[in-house]
Amino acid sequence: MRDQVRFREMDFIVAFLRLLRGVTVYPKSHPLVSGALDVIMEAIRGGLKAGDSLILAVNRGYSFVNANRVEVTAENYAFIRLLVQAFDDLGLGEVEFLPGSVTRDGLHRFFRILAMHRGSFDGLLSRMDEEGVGGIFVRPCLQVPGGNIRDRAKKLYFQTLILIKRYFEGEKSASLVKIKAVAAYLADLLRRSEETLIGLTVIKNYDDYTYNHCLNVAILSLGLALRLGMSKKLLVSLGTGALVHDIGKVRIPAEIINKPGILTEDEWKVVKRHPVEGLAFLLRRWGISRETARMFPAVLEHHLGMSFSGYPEFMRRKAPGFLARIIHIADFYDAVTTPRVYNKSPFSPVEAVEFLMDHSGDRFDPVLVKAFVQMMGFYPVGTVVRLSTGEWAMVVEKPSEAVPLDRPVVAVVADDRGVPLRPRRLDLSEEPVEVVGVSDQSPWEIGLDPTQVTLTLSE
Ligand SMILES: [Fe+2]
Ligand SMILES: [Fe+2]
Repeated sequence: MRDQVRFREMDFIVAFLRLLRGVTVYPKSHPLVSGALDVIMEAIRGGLKAGDSLILAVNRGYSFVNANRVEVTAENYAFIRLLVQAFDDLGLGEVEFLPGSVTRDGLHRFFRILAMHRGSFDGLLSRMDEEGVGGIFVRPCLQVPGGNIRDRAKKLYFQTLILIKRYFEGEKSASLVKIKAVAAYLADLLRRSEETLIGLTVIKNYDDYTYNHCLNVAILSLGLALRLGMSKKLLVSLGTGALVHDIGKVRIPAEIINKPGILTEDEWKVVKRHPVEGLAFLLRRWGISRETARMFPAVLEHHLGMSFSGYPEFMRRKAPGFLARIIHIADFYDAVTTPRVYNKSPFSPVEAVEFLMDHSGDRFDPVLVKAFVQMMGFYPVGTVVRLSTGEWAMVVEKPSEAVPLDRPVVAVVADDRGVPLRPRRLDLSEEPVEVVGVSDQSPWEIGLDPTQVTLTLSE
């Protein structure tokens, strides 16, 4: 079965390359051109389509059909190289074909534009508009932010927020391939500097709770999984699942999500449907593959506890899967440390960690809780502390590996009388200043917005 699929993916890729090379040389009736058009039309109509469309993408030297990486073999190596080169030359990240909207004529016009195109990616989009190519969408390759690790992490963080928002809103410019690429970048950056990326999870409610929460959950889940030595393949599935784990919430009316008071029983029932709604949405959009089969349980089971608690209720008969157990912990931690309209006083990070430990074994997987607590460190980011200078500060980065656990990086936010200061970054591993007390209040309870602190922090 897999061989058959691989064969058909390669048929499609070879036809794509033939058209790219032959369409400006041979007339439309030439067997090389018309044969390749037939193969692609067939692939779009159903031969390869998954979910709503057929997507061909190139990312970091690999090619993907419908987000499944095309395996490189001795026989197809040369074709894959040519495809990667062609996409790179055009600055192209992916091409999406919508069945029912693509005509044979339109497809021929599209390849003529592609074959003759030189210049900017925007120019390519304009040409496609001018020529009225319908049902085909092209997207540029994902731009990886440059700069030092802290700048890169911040840029990636905000780029990802925009991507999640677009994806949840159903925008065509956001795709599974991009979400997977972002999951892989997040894992890469975490591997290089866990403390930098985890530090950014103090950013909450930026623009919208749900998008920001999904991103934080992905970072915390990936950080935990990296500590467990998870394989790269599983990391991408975990990160992708975490980035979209609450996508079912787009189906819940805003007045329920943002209700300031306690939910009625009926409203609560609607909220509890979001894992199932999320799974249904992703099934429609991504279809079934070996990879989505790994990811889907993570979305469906992320509110299930170890002791057959949580929801969906019909899933309570068995313990949740491994990826879902990881997301469950990250999800709980981020949700309870974020203020909401109905709860202006969230848990402080220390309280959240204590709750996880108190419920280790019944609600949460005990081994994962242990690894999570270790990852968050002695003073989890967002903790409000008193310094030996008398000043007040918020922890913004846990210490890196070689530094003692009680010497995090903090943002000094108020003087010894509690008068607010412009946040100033202070690395306690480099200064003769110590933490002498920990507040049991969350930053919001003392009038501090961690998002603003992070964004305005001066070195
Ligand atoms: Fe959820
Ligand atoms: Fe969640």
